[in-house]
Amino acid sequence: MSILAETYTLSNGVKLPKIGFGTWQIKEGDNAYNAVSTALRVGYRHIDTAEGYGNEKSVGKAIRDSGIPRDQIFVTSKLESHIKDYEGAKKAFDETLDNLGLDYIDLFIIHAPWPWSDMGKDCSAGNVLAYRAMEEAYKAGKAKAIGVSNFEPKHLQNIIDNNEIVPHVNQIGYFIGIDQSKTIDFCDRHNIFVEAYSPLGIGYLLDNDDIGKIAEKYDKSNAQICIRYLVQKGVAPLPKSTHEHRMIENSQLDFEITKKDMAFLDTIQGDPRRWDDIE
Ligand code: A2P
Repeated sequence: MSILAETYTLSNGVKLPKIGFGTWQIKEGDNAYNAVSTALRVGYRHIDTAEGYGNEKSVGKAIRDSGIPRDQIFVTSKLESHIKDYEGAKKAFDETLDNLGLDYIDLFIIHAPWPWSDMGKDCSAGNVLAYRAMEEAYKAGKAKAIGVSNFEPKHLQNIIDNNEIVPHVNQIGYFIGIDQSKTIDFCDRHNIFVEAYSPLGIGYLLDNDDIGKIAEKYDKSNAQICIRYLVQKGVAPLPKSTHEHRMIENSQLDFEITKKDMAFLDTIQGDPRRWDDIE
């Protein structure tokens, strides 16, 4: 069985396909439509978009046109990072459904604990209000699961303390070289499932020599090692590509990295993203 047909189970029993297809930076229009159509054709059943990507319309159209029964595709979108109030979140959620042209979404998450334009800002009260609107969508069956993204333990604790439903998912930037252990430990303790965006380290791990040594040993590409590493960590990677052959390559993960090689990959350090001023 291809890994694309394998699932994880969220705390509420909802099944989530292990490998998602990311659509960040894939432009609205033919680009997004063709990428998602191709991903679905080669077997991906988990599609990740966001209001902020501006491509929900084309992503939704590709899903609807695919002919694949709706209940066999897991669709995620995200509340824009600057929306930190109840009414705004409610309206934005309805717009997402409208853009996608779907009756329900599988997972809806808060894109970030703070607006991208003001990273690190304390939006505790606003996150609680926005999340409350999402809890209502969940209870109404319009979102099968809800959660957050880019949340650190303090942001998660705020939701746990002030809302009713513990987030089902936290989607974080996670790849070989980045230390996310504090957030992952917290999520494990609270049964919050972790998804990994930028599994290839926004592309910079593709020519990493240390990963290359492991890739050579298994006769795989760096990308496959990066994605397989995350699966063995028990998280759901969300690789993205606009090329069919890479989409296929990224899903050919039918091999096991030994404990020793996993430990070696754990020693690699480096985060190419520049988020230095976030506390
Ligand atoms: P492209 O869309 O041209 O294929 P990340 O998910 O960590 O942000 O990295 C995504 C980047 O890596 C994209 O720019 C994508 O480019 C590229 N990419 C995705 N899969 C592969 C692959 N198997 N080999 C090489 N590059 C890849």
